[in-house]
Amino acid sequence: TGPDVRTATGALANKDQAVNAQQGEWLTTSVGARLRDTDHSLKAGPRGPTLLQDHHLREKITHFDHERIPERVVHARGYGVHGVFTAYGNADPVTCADFLQKGRETPVFTRFSTVLGSRGSADTVRDTRGFATKFYTDEGNFDLVANNIPVFFIQDGIKFPDVIHAGKPHPDREIPQAQSAHDTFWDFVSLHTEAQHHTIWNMSDRGIPRSYRMMEGFGVHTFRLVNAAGETSLAKFHWKPKLGVHALVWEEAQMLGGFDPDFHRRDLADAIEAGAFPEWELGIQVFPDTPEQMFEGIDLLDPTKLVPEELAEVQPIGLLHLNRNPSNYFAETEQIAFHVGNLVRGIDVTDDPLLQTRLFSYIDTQLTRLGGPNFNQIPINRPHAPVNDMFRDGFHQDADHRGVAPYRPNSLDGGCPFHAGVDDKAFVEFPVPLPAGPKTREQAASFDDHYSQARLFWRSMSPVEQEHIIAAYSFELGKCYEQVIKQRQLQCLANIDATLCEKVAEQLGLPVPEPTEPLTEPDPSPALSMVGGTWPPD
Ligand code: HEM
Repeated sequence: TGPDVRTATGALANKDQAVNAQQGEWLTTSVGARLRDTDHSLKAGPRGPTLLQDHHLREKITHFDHERIPERVVHARGYGVHGVFTAYGNADPVTCADFLQKGRETPVFTRFSTVLGSRGSADTVRDTRGFATKFYTDEGNFDLVANNIPVFFIQDGIKFPDVIHAGKPHPDREIPQAQSAHDTFWDFVSLHTEAQHHTIWNMSDRGIPRSYRMMEGFGVHTFRLVNAAGETSLAKFHWKPKLGVHALVWEEAQMLGGFDPDFHRRDLADAIEAGAFPEWELGIQVFPDTPEQMFEGIDLLDPTKLVPEELAEVQPIGLLHLNRNPSNYFAETEQIAFHVGNLVRGIDVTDDPLLQTRLFSYIDTQLTRLGGPNFNQIPINRPHAPVNDMFRDGFHQDADHRGVAPYRPNSLDGGCPFHAGVDDKAFVEFPVPLPAGPKTREQAASFDDHYSQARLFWRSMSPVEQEHIIAAYSFELGKCYEQVIKQRQLQCLANIDATLCEKVAEQLGLPVPEPTEPLTEPDPSPALSMVGGTWPPD
């Protein structure tokens, strides 16, 4: 007798009709009236003006006029596919997440994307790639909104509009489309030097993946896991592709951008159609949840830092298997709405200041992009778990809500059990003690190191990968008009590695600056290394 569960009856009937659209025997208007002619407008005589009373003409044109919705403000270009996630069942010691129980199969939808280009831009540009997965779990949707690079440009979300404005096309000429071949990008990353780590990954082969099927994914932030006993750990999420990690070489990427700007979406769609289903293992790095939230001297709340796999191994906990292309791009890939706040029992957020801003941003943008507050009723966003949210009305309300008392507890809708405080399947924010201290805009001193991990990355590269990185910096910086920006970025490179700086300076014909910070010697981390341009894998 669950009263007032959002009834989907009407919605489902409509959905069936929508699925059947374009299949009926008769062409109709949007309200089902059969049409005899959709090719000729109603006119005052065969050569006369069109009559305002032609309702069918007006309806057809009006609907067409409103077909477009705003593209995503970032990650506008993407391709999504359906699949299934199967849990290995070994994550119990750290999380009680139901979908991670042994053998549990959860339907998923994964959308891959570039970040900066618009919806019609090319796939093979040098950029970060999005790797967002919606898990339709029995306990509600869990969204892992990840990228193919394990760190981010900025430490605090308040700079997100700035870094994106710097990377998007210039406001006057609207060029360029791809990341980084312009002054504002290099201006930003050389002034906000925390961006240097993410940037060197972009300049490496990781910036031009061979295929979505051959990319890693990273949740970037540290999350908090909670097990059945209420014990917590900190963790980072990783996707490891079964096909290995592979890149295009720059010349291939350039040619493909011209010959086949849809290269990555075609590659994924064709592979799935041919039954070559791509797979990834989901892995976690687990760290003790200490009050400092540090691990081996690395601040786990700083999203510009990774934890090398030599220090904390990535432990596989499940398998992602992508096996079905969308039947309608707009309905599924375009209308899907991910949110880092879509969490399930056993997985919680931390105070990473980038993650904290993301919790606000996604729903806010989707209110505009998807036309109001009911976008989670769109079929691709609808959870597979029962919904009883007591939200009412609003644009595009799809539900036929029953009951008269949309609040809990109430004495009108047949009892309405409300298990507040006793539902052990409920998501409960973990009661982490808050750090003491005054209100402030200052950040922790542990966020001040901007170069050591960029250096770690550079030194873990093979010689050929280092050549690619030098070529990428030289090419991209060569596109800047302002000498001062090139020089400032060379200064950053001097703080990363002397050879890297010298080689790029030589290509640019500029003097080599002295480092302004001591160059510490990190251990090389071979696990980061990959080789560009090798396909098929050995
Ligand atoms: C998409 C904001 C950082 C991964 C988006 C969108 C916004 C946004 C507004 C468009 C969402 C939509 O229209 O549905 C932010 C802000 C950030 C941030 C404010 C920092 C404060 C990150 C980070 C990652 C990431 C660190 C990766 C770990 C993604 C992905 C998408 C996306 C994959 C595309 C989702 C899709 O395919 O629909 N972001 N983002 N973002 N973001 Fe972020």
